[in-house]
Amino acid sequence: MALMLSLLSALVVFSYGHGGSLGCNLTVNHDLVSRENFLLLDQMRRISPSLCLDDRKDFRFPQQAVNGSQVQKTQAISVLYEMLGQTSRVFLTEQSSAAWNTTLLDKLLTGLHRQLEDLEPCLVQEVGQEESAAGKDPTADVKRYFLGIRLYLKQKKYSDCAWEVVREEIMKIMRSFSLPTNL
Ligand SMILES: *[C@@H]1O[C@H](CO)[C@@H](O)[C@H](O)[C@H]1NC(C)=O
Ligand SMILES: *[C@@H]1O[C@H](CO)[C@@H](O)[C@H](O)[C@H]1NC(C)=O
Ligand SMILES: *[C@@H]1O[C@H](CO)[C@@H](O)[C@H](O)[C@H]1NC(C)=O
Repeated sequence: MALMLSLLSALVVFSYGHGGSLGCNLTVNHDLVSRENFLLLDQMRRISPSLCLDDRKDFRFPQQAVNGSQVQKTQAISVLYEMLGQTSRVFLTEQSSAAWNTTLLDKLLTGLHRQLEDLEPCLVQEVGQEESAAGKDPTADVKRYFLGIRLYLKQKKYSDCAWEVVREEIMKIMRSFSLPTNL
């Protein structure tokens, strides 16, 4: 669970920061923002999960895509970036603003955006390194997983329970990939 974080730390050490704000430096506020996002998602809860037991679903989170032993260090950032981008995509919809407290939702989207911006310089470096490494797109499984989430919401007609199930699911994966300590 804390594996992802150690991969990120490793990357920070390896990164050739060019100084200034454009270098790849995740230590600045990355952890803080992801913790804030997590807490925001927690605050967003509107109904008791116990009312939504029938709507529960196993979205089959691609654990192997974030599992340290199988993930190249250089891929870790791509995978995290994809997850954050896909999370924004789920919440940045008309149906989402109808479902959630928009004050909290806006804060969440802003937080996710900041996190993506922090990661971007690291991503650019990584793409350069990866050109030589043949292989499949490390984010493919993550994309497929989030497609499943979006289809589920649609199929459930964006019901309150469906959103609640998704909110919990995303909290669960956020906890597994970016929070070192339990809350
Ligand atoms: C990253 O930023 C922090 C805070 O500004 C600074 O203390 C640290 O030295 C920087 N690390 C790198 C690798 O540039
Ligand atoms: C994840 O990695 C651990 C070792 O770090 C391994 O025991 C486990 O089987 C892996 N899980 C998956 C789903 O690949
Ligand atoms: C939205 O959340 C904020 C912060 O918790 C709260 O102050 C506000 O009253 C909420 N708005 C609605 C419409 O519930």
